[in-house]
Amino acid sequence: MEQDTCHSLKIQHIPDMSFQKIKSIAKNFCRNLPEYVRDELYEQLERGCDLITTEPQLQQYIYSFGNMHEAKLNLAFDNVPKEIFDYKDIAVIDYGCGQAMATMVLADYFKENNYNIENIKSINLIEPSFRVLERAELYAYCLYPQTTKIKTINKFMDDLTKEDLYQEHSLVIHLFSNILDVESFSLEQLADTIKESKYQSELFICVGPYFGEFSERQERFDYFSELLGYKTIFSQYYLKGEWQNNWSCSAKILSNIRPNIEFETLSVSGKIKGFRSGSLTHFEKTGKFYIRAVVEDTNEYGEVKEDIVFLGWKEGARRPQIGDRVQKTRWKSLDDGREGIAYTALCLSEILDETPIERE
Ligand SMILES: C[S@@+](CC[C@H](N)C(=O)[O-])C[C@H]1O[C@@H](n2cnc3c(N)ncnc32)[C@H](O)[C@@H]1O
Repeated sequence: MEQDTCHSLKIQHIPDMSFQKIKSIAKNFCRNLPEYVRDELYEQLERGCDLITTEPQLQQYIYSFGNMHEAKLNLAFDNVPKEIFDYKDIAVIDYGCGQAMATMVLADYFKENNYNIENIKSINLIEPSFRVLERAELYAYCLYPQTTKIKTINKFMDDLTKEDLYQEHSLVIHLFSNILDVESFSLEQLADTIKESKYQSELFICVGPYFGEFSERQERFDYFSELLGYKTIFSQYYLKGEWQNNWSCSAKILSNIRPNIEFETLSVSGKIKGFRSGSLTHFEKTGKFYIRAVVEDTNEYGEVKEDIVFLGWKEGARRPQIGDRVQKTRWKSLDDGREGIAYTALCLSEILDETPIERE
């Protein structure tokens, strides 16, 4: 762990440490530099793809990207089925952790939302830059209780073994923050190593930029979830301009845990209009909030709740599957002022009135 530096001394003596406080220290440092020095530091970071080697770069990284990464992580955390964070025996693995931003935002999230942070029994930080990793360890040490065991793994992803990833805890939360698009490691190899570890219950939280449908870096993001083969329980993509502060965003949650939530299952029949084909397709039986029905037409997927329907999927994006979480959006018709709720799997929605849905 980083020791005997001014920064470590300072950090260890600030009460109630949080990522918010770490961001504000970085902001004070960077704002006091001449603008041309800040610009130079920013360029050195090359948007976070190269290994960080100097202390000013560490501060600049948090100053430049802290708010954005935090917002994406919080978007994902907000969509984790709530009972999962109540597991009593959680291990966290933060891959390509950098300064452990994802681990820190998770700590803030637990505290702000009244989850018991002592449920997190171990933090595992994986990062090839030793300098960055020892700072990550310092931060994790200051944000997590003494009961949380912190382990560092100073390795490139391709060098990870299943022994590195071994966990004895009942739930493993895998954090992939702004790392899946880094092209310097093999996704196949990583997915195999994770699968060999045979965890009982797992949750994967993956966030990063959104590069657009046909970008190779975006494909890595989606390919990884295919390799793992777990159910997607949340998936959201935003192009720049569609979300906060002109940031793009990819956020995805995968899991092998069956959420212990009571869904009201409606027995329904009716018609949906396919987003792509525009044709009407008969459907029956679906559920609430999670897609339970896949309509026969292979391009069309459906979700129904009470009197409102529907959605399509974005071409080029992974197709919605049974079990996907859908997003709830309010709509209002500009034509006749009708209002309602639409459920969207991947950004695009289409509202239909169509056939009334009958409850059994
Ligand atoms: C964009 S940063 C993301 C850091 C952190 N996860 C976050 O959200 O702030 C990418 C990180 O991946 C690390 N990295 C780069 N190549 C890697 C590799 N082949 N294996 C593991 N980590 C790598 C870098 O050192 C850097 O810390």
